[in-house]
Amino acid sequence: SSDGQGHPVVSSEHPDIQAAAALLREGELVAFPTETVYGLGADATNTSAVEAIYHAKGRPSDNPLIVHIAERSQLDELIADSVSQEERELAERLIARFWPGPLTLVLPVRPGAVSPRVTAGLATVAVRMPDHPLALALIRASGRPIAAPSANRSGRPSPTTARHVAEDLAGRIAGIIDGGPTAVGLESTVVAILPRGLELLRPGGVTQQQLREAAPDVPLHAPELPSAAAQPILPDEAPRSPGMKYAHYAPQGEMRVILGGSSPASRAAVIDHAASLLAEAKRQGRRIGVLTYAEHEGRYHGVDHIAVCGSLRDLSTVAKQLYDALRSFDEAGIDFIVAEGCPSEGVGEAIMNRLIKAAAYRIERVEARS
Ligand code: TXA
Ligand code: MG
Repeated sequence: SSDGQGHPVVSSEHPDIQAAAALLREGELVAFPTETVYGLGADATNTSAVEAIYHAKGRPSDNPLIVHIAERSQLDELIADSVSQEERELAERLIARFWPGPLTLVLPVRPGAVSPRVTAGLATVAVRMPDHPLALALIRASGRPIAAPSANRSGRPSPTTARHVAEDLAGRIAGIIDGGPTAVGLESTVVAILPRGLELLRPGGVTQQQLREAAPDVPLHAPELPSAAAQPILPDEAPRSPGMKYAHYAPQGEMRVILGGSSPASRAAVIDHAASLLAEAKRQGRRIGVLTYAEHEGRYHGVDHIAVCGSLRDLSTVAKQLYDALRSFDEAGIDFIVAEGCPSEGVGEAIMNRLIKAAAYRIERVEARS
């Protein structure tokens, strides 16, 4: 059982899922792996357990939690009778294609189905079925819907290993189930099912293109990402997903993201600009770090910490390594960070969304010299 220090109650070699499920039923917090990031689980029907999540994470109480389920039938217990036939059919198509998997559906909540603290007072609930055998076994064994945000301290990069969870939450939670590094590395895509179609609330493991393919006849409203615009952007309109308004994923150092095109000349201009920002910060006596990709690793010199974040040839490798790369700057004591942007196609949309937030919207765009 728990040693009270947040050390693993169950390991990857001998996962005692029954013990972890018993803790959840007793109102304790247990971190567990999913295919996206590690989640911090609590019984979604137990208000004091859900309050303990906000307390352990230091999370603002107006940011609602995703409810995790293991059986399709659990969804019907969570959503309101008022959900229309059209909305149910749309949900069904997405479920058939993406569950279990990194897609979270937002639908009107059935009153009383979960603690009101889960939904932070909204009339909707976010639900997903994770694609991970340990997560599914834990949820099943608990016999409850499980509320689970990412298992990091609020504002920190999300955890993709059990070690990341322990760094942030040891001593604050009953246990951690270690399932090794997570497969996707970024959170689920959050999409609201509305009478008039779909609204993308957070890009993630399921891409916009995959959503459009699954429901080609349904309008998909997707807000334009800051990366598409020209100069430093500040978040303006009220966010539709409450979580989107808070500082997120941020290392302690000041961070910039450099954007450019994907032609060789544009990439060279991005590297040149990154190198000159770094050199200037170094002259000011700061400890400098760069987030780059395998292809460009050798292009930086005199940098205190280089985080090589996957390969531009396969953005899924970038997604997988992003949060560990962001955490590595704090470990290296870096106070000025430059990150090269990546193409925002496919999972690149979610990667750029997280990088831009990690940089608190400090974006610089460069053009290739002609
Ligand atoms: O991949 C994931 O989704 C991970 C794993 C653990 O499942 N979970 C996760 O949870 O990322 P969290 O709490 O870090 O992010 C949940 C996001 C927040 O942006 C929150 O505002 C949004 O989902 N959300 C939750 N309920 C919502 C609702 N009813 N309406 C709109 N947005 C909601
Ligand atoms: Mg989170």
